Amino acid sequence: MNAPSRIADRTADDLMAYRVVRAAMPILAEGLGPEDLAAQSMPDCSPGKWHLAHTSWFFEAMILGEEPGYQPVDPRFQTLFNSYYEALGPRVDRPARGLMTRPSLDEVLAYRREIDRRMTRWLGEGPTDARRLYLFTLGLNHDQQHQELFLMDLLNLMARSPLDPRAYPAEPRSRPPQRALGGITRFDGGLVEIGHGGAGFAFDNEGPAHRVWLEPYALANDLVSNADWFAFIADGGYARPELWLSDGWSTVQAEAWDAPLYWRRDGDGWTTMGLTGRAPLDPAAPVRHISFYEADAYARWAGKRLPTEAEWEHAVRCRPEAFSNAFGEVWQWTASAYAPYPGFRPTEGTASEYNGKFMANQMVLRGSSFATPEGHARVSYRNFFYPHQRWAFTGLRLAEDAP
Ligand code: AVJ
Ligand code: FE
Repeated sequence: MNAPSRIADRTADDLMAYRVVRAAMPILAEGLGPEDLAAQSMPDCSPGKWHLAHTSWFFEAMILGEEPGYQPVDPRFQTLFNSYYEALGPRVDRPARGLMTRPSLDEVLAYRREIDRRMTRWLGEGPTDARRLYLFTLGLNHDQQHQELFLMDLLNLMARSPLDPRAYPAEPRSRPPQRALGGITRFDGGLVEIGHGGAGFAFDNEGPAHRVWLEPYALANDLVSNADWFAFIADGGYARPELWLSDGWSTVQAEAWDAPLYWRRDGDGWTTMGLTGRAPLDPAAPVRHISFYEADAYARWAGKRLPTEAEWEHAVRCRPEAFSNAFGEVWQWTASAYAPYPGFRPTEGTASEYNGKFMANQMVLRGSSFATPEGHARVSYRNFFYPHQRWAFTGLRLAEDAP
């Protein structure tokens, strides 16, 4: 095959990938009203309308805007839909995103279509360098991250209403649950390699691949379930300071936590809010919506601990079949602080602000959730949140030392 046709194939593949990824968020927005998509439930969350716009702006800021003489679709959108890129100038503070009643939802959707038109043209212009192709793939992966954020933020908004509204008639993206396997799997540890080294896309924070030393350990084959969490609550889990880290205990008291986010005692049992409204908790389902502090306290209560991210990655690389729900159910808190790997170098240029500057005071989560787009996550993927945050689709898998 000669070079030009290889480039043509690549363009066709990229165009297909672009269409598939970009179609997803408008589909998530389809059954919702402009009011649902405009409100912001808390400072950590963004309105759906903002996610629709910001993910479009990203292509303009990172790719299209680099072309000489580029005319932005609307220069005002630079300030409205820039999330946190200092290099790209001033922007609306995140807690004020819900006050942007203009542009309207229709105008945002039109902006999205115009960016898609321009990106399609950009792709059609053919050969381009490796750096721009990386930014293009980054833009698609960024859109996918925001698809999940869209659902997290929408659920948080619905949960603020005393009406317990259902966002969707059926849970978007739900996959058949993986059956619990029971038991633990032991690993010898030793000198192992983690991090993204191979071909294919990865975020900058997943590399470089490097060696780490692991003492012998074991990982639970299953995630901690709601039934497990009922036992923790019944045993006074939220009322015993000795189980908690100091910062965790302060948060329990300040926020009056006595159960995971969205849980409510209704009659004899517990209900929780999901994307399909309020429903009784399924005891067999993995626990969702817990903070790092809660995951850590639960592990201490159970006489276990959280895995480090290196233990998690090594285990899932070596024995993927040993675990249920390593991916596709809930993100799993680890004991690892979100810090750069040895030799970490941020992506060059404007995208250098993407991950690296957040490497303080957050914890790493591994795996993926039911809301993560299919094919988005991988074994080296590093998600991260602050230790008190629990509106993401988070849970845990226990670990222990195995002498
Ligand atoms: C990896 C989910 C913490 O929410 O800021 C979105 C993802 N990065 N836009 C975040 C992200 C840039 C990120 N998290
Ligand atoms: Fe973003």
